[in-house]
Amino acid sequence: MNPKSKLNLILHKVQQYWSGNAVNQNKGMVENLQRYGIIQSRKVAEVMETIDRGLFVPNGTPPYVDSPIPIGYNATISAPHMHATCLQLLEENLQPGMHALDVGSGTGYLTACFAMMVGPQGRAIGVEHIPELVSSSTENIQKSAAASLLKDGSLSVHSGDGRQGWPEFAPYDAIHVGAAAKEIPQPLIDQLKPGGRMVIPVGVLFQDLQVVDKNSDGSVSIRTETSVRYVPLTSKEAQLQG
Ligand SMILES: C[S@@+](CC[C@H](N)C(=O)[O-])C[C@H]1O[C@@H](n2cnc3c(N)ncnc32)[C@H](O)[C@@H]1O
Repeated sequence: MNPKSKLNLILHKVQQYWSGNAVNQNKGMVENLQRYGIIQSRKVAEVMETIDRGLFVPNGTPPYVDSPIPIGYNATISAPHMHATCLQLLEENLQPGMHALDVGSGTGYLTACFAMMVGPQGRAIGVEHIPELVSSSTENIQKSAAASLLKDGSLSVHSGDGRQGWPEFAPYDAIHVGAAAKEIPQPLIDQLKPGGRMVIPVGVLFQDLQVVDKNSDGSVSIRTETSVRYVPLTSKEAQLQG
């Protein structure tokens, strides 16, 4: 073997080692979330194993630690335990063929998870108001197991004010809001299907993760799941001013 091929082989082996290691670490993160009872279902474990969080965090940051990570523009990727909690709460509303809306989609991680769960016959829509994050999240998704769903159009990420929802593909079986609202935006309630569920952090200093279920008569039932701390659901200008 000539020296160049030898070097290529070594580089290939190093690459394989590192990518294999990343997969193991993502699996380890999922196993920890299962051990602590945050992931309770096989389906949520499978989707979090399939969508590698390492592809969604900025280079040089520790992807598998259970903590939020800054992604620029005064935003963060939420902690793995929050992603797992929201996926658990929405699991029944993320069946194949269903429609899911991810407001404040940030890195695109949860939008990709939703897309894997609703499958090619369903729709997973991300709405994010920072255009640069829309572009980087699209690149992240392209590297992930959800790339084919982005290509076939069952997954899409849009630039816009998520407080208005995304009427084009409403009504939604599942709505996730990744930033804390002062109060639940009415357009999001309107775009929820009867039988649908929304998970949304609500509050300013003290925030609750609220679970909003729309009943068959159009009324809503709201309960608090837990206390949380998210960046605010606000205007682009207010967010960039910090
Ligand atoms: C906690 S971060 C990202 C969460 C995302 N689930 C993730 O883990 O990557 C919340 C996101 O909401 C976005 N955001 C805040 N207000 C918004 C609004 N009015 N419309 C759309 N996106 C908004 C922020 O830019 C930020 O990317």
